[in-house]
Amino acid sequence: MLPDEKKKLAAQAALEYVTPGSIVGVGTGSTVNFFIDLLAEQMSGEIEATVSSSEASTERLQKHGFRVEDLNTVGHLSIYVDGADESNSRLHLIKGGGGALTREKIIAAASDQFVCIADDSKLVDTLGAFPLPVEVIPMARVMISEQLLKIGGSPQWRKDFITDNGNHILDVHDLSIDDPVALETQINQMVGVVTVGLFAQRPADVLILGGDRGIRTISA
Ligand code: A5P
Repeated sequence: MLPDEKKKLAAQAALEYVTPGSIVGVGTGSTVNFFIDLLAEQMSGEIEATVSSSEASTERLQKHGFRVEDLNTVGHLSIYVDGADESNSRLHLIKGGGGALTREKIIAAASDQFVCIADDSKLVDTLGAFPLPVEVIPMARVMISEQLLKIGGSPQWRKDFITDNGNHILDVHDLSIDDPVALETQINQMVGVVTVGLFAQRPADVLILGGDRGIRTISA
């Protein structure tokens, strides 16, 4: 089965978690794009509104006719659906491959249930083979790179990329993340870091993986 078919399977299964009449938090990425399209096909009249984690997802949602609300207006969400770059079996995630990690983490924090959708290649024993994205205030980029080197990572500046918040991304290679909660805290405390793409203190609640033999669901 092609990766896109696996992503679509996971996206389809996530629709079962969406309650008619709810406001849905929507993440970013190719798997979420399938979710948005399927939501429009199968539940468009039943969704009160959405809250989006990126300009790209906002554009796609609006093209389908969904209302996109500011999180400040909505305040709180019952469900957030998003993809991931890696997950371990405890549903700790690496996110931010698309650079939307900060808004994604905000929406995850504001949601009762975080449903993560992915193809089954994203499930790993130890996080870190996928370079860990860190969003930084531009003037602190070199200073933070030096600190990330000291903790054993190899940060690379994602050149020619500016986040929706006007910041830079460092992709940290060569990490083997044995304690995601501790590393999330450590990197968050570096002055100038906006967000680290480790979602461990607030992991996903449900991980839906699409694979050759259908769907596998892991719950926290
Ligand atoms: C966006 O910044 C990321 O956190 C995405 O959720 C992640 O990169 C997953 O993307 P795909 O669904 O395209 O793999």
